[in-house]
Amino acid sequence: MSTDDRDLTFTAADFRRVRDMVYRHAGIALSEAKSDMAYARLARRVRAMGEKRFSVYLDVLSADPAHPEWQSFVNALTTNLTAFFREPHHFEMLAKHFGHHAGAGALYRVWSAAASTGEEPYSVAMTLAEAPLPRPCPIEVVATDIDTNVLKTAAAGVYPEERIALLSKTQLKAHFLRGKGKQEGFVRVKPGLRAAIQFGQLNLAADRWPDIGLFDAVFCRNVMIYFDNQTQRAILQRLADHMQPHALLFLGHSENIQLITDAFVPCGRTAYRKAGRGS
Ligand SMILES: C[S@@+](CC[C@H](N)C(=O)[O-])C[C@H]1O[C@@H](n2cnc3c(N)ncnc32)[C@H](O)[C@@H]1O
Repeated sequence: MSTDDRDLTFTAADFRRVRDMVYRHAGIALSEAKSDMAYARLARRVRAMGEKRFSVYLDVLSADPAHPEWQSFVNALTTNLTAFFREPHHFEMLAKHFGHHAGAGALYRVWSAAASTGEEPYSVAMTLAEAPLPRPCPIEVVATDIDTNVLKTAAAGVYPEERIALLSKTQLKAHFLRGKGKQEGFVRVKPGLRAAIQFGQLNLAADRWPDIGLFDAVFCRNVMIYFDNQTQRAILQRLADHMQPHALLFLGHSENIQLITDAFVPCGRTAYRKAGRGS
């Protein structure tokens, strides 16, 4: 859409304010080139408030840090692209790591730290459920995201059939129920798999994180790209503090952290271990 076709007033100064606000609130560093995207994503919110000018909408947010609209503002500006078993090599590594470290009745815990609509944590839970172990090992998957809309979808566990097209027949039978009648064309995650996952909101860029304990593996994939180096460094240090000495960290395919932190050492394709620790 050209700027002439816009029905709302959105100035360069408004865009600078949007950038500053989403950076301070969510750590998301929007480049200069994202002005059209910001307009497209936020215009609906401005209209919903009955306003014609972005500046008035932004004034309302700026005046009240606890305004409920802040959540919709952030939800509108996140990018939530995901898929079941995205970057499958990570799930192969996870299965091996689980086989190696599961046992003695201890809980094996995995954190999906930018879980989006849930495909990633459900893929983790399927991987752990399907791992051939000599004896059962209790598991827990914690799935968090800053965006409350995607978390609702994730917790519901209902997906259009095309989302699960690449899953095997065995996986479909084991973990999904096919919808009938009004639900035709959709699948629902079975309660057993759903019960392995705890969903909750967590802003990786917040000053404090809730007490979520230590993990055996952390998936923090395809979210670092939205943060600048300073934010990435701070988040990576805190992720390391939430990882067991033997834990694995999985990042997205275009996320290289080696120039950013020395808290991790690479141990596979976009997979890392904590630095200075044993296996
Ligand atoms: C592109 S998706 C990645 C989903 C999944 N990890 C994957 O790789 O398929 C990025 C996710 O990061 C979330 N996100 C963005 N900023 C965040 C923050 N500050 N804290 C937590 N999650 C954030 C977005 O809401 C979005 O769901």
